Amino acid sequence: FDSNPELENNLKEKGKDELLKLVEETTDINLYFIRQSHPRGLGDAVLTAKSFIGDEPFVVMLGDDLMADETPLTKQLIDRYNTTGESTLAVMKVPHEQVSEYGVIAPEKEVEDGLHQVNSFVEKPKPEDAPSDLAIIGRYLLTPEIFEALENTAPGKGNEIQLTDAIDSLNKRQHVYAHEFKGKRYDIGSKIGFLTTNIEYGLNHPQT
Ligand code: G1P
Repeated sequence: FDSNPELENNLKEKGKDELLKLVEETTDINLYFIRQSHPRGLGDAVLTAKSFIGDEPFVVMLGDDLMADETPLTKQLIDRYNTTGESTLAVMKVPHEQVSEYGVIAPEKEVEDGLHQVNSFVEKPKPEDAPSDLAIIGRYLLTPEIFEALENTAPGKGNEIQLTDAIDSLNKRQHVYAHEFKGKRYDIGSKIGFLTTNIEYGLNHPQT
């Protein structure tokens, strides 16, 4: 993601304009990294970004979840935020026996098509305790008040600071909405998921 004069000159000389365009397109992207020194959970990881984000709404995107839809899911969340002004995370119906792999919502009422007001958020419940089959998938649009909630969140499931727990406590002070995603989700966190995602994305690529 930086300029590479040697490569760019080489591509220019050889007239490889398409490749040159690809290399140049990434040059002006700024990436900033913050390291989480200890694996203390997703909530702790988000909290490390507090000083970087400051007092603004922001998006959390978990890299092992890929979402495919006509409108990108993150854009869908931003559109929801632009009408409600409140935190909104993405959920999706999953088979009941899989709910224990996810954060799960207890929906209160559907305020608009596919937008739920939520009663509570529970991290990885047993299927028999799960309040619904609506699972949190890896996209969140959060207001900066989440940081105070995270600072006051004790370790939960797996003895880790859970983002879901902080969201549940934030929801008691300001709404956190759940937006139901209707597109396709690819989970590359498992070997078979990684493999099938590569094949499907590869087959959909214009060069194939
Ligand atoms: C995390 C969250 C969980 C969420 C899931 C989505 O769990 O803690 O609430 O449902 O991501 O992929 P992880 O997959 O890191 O165990």
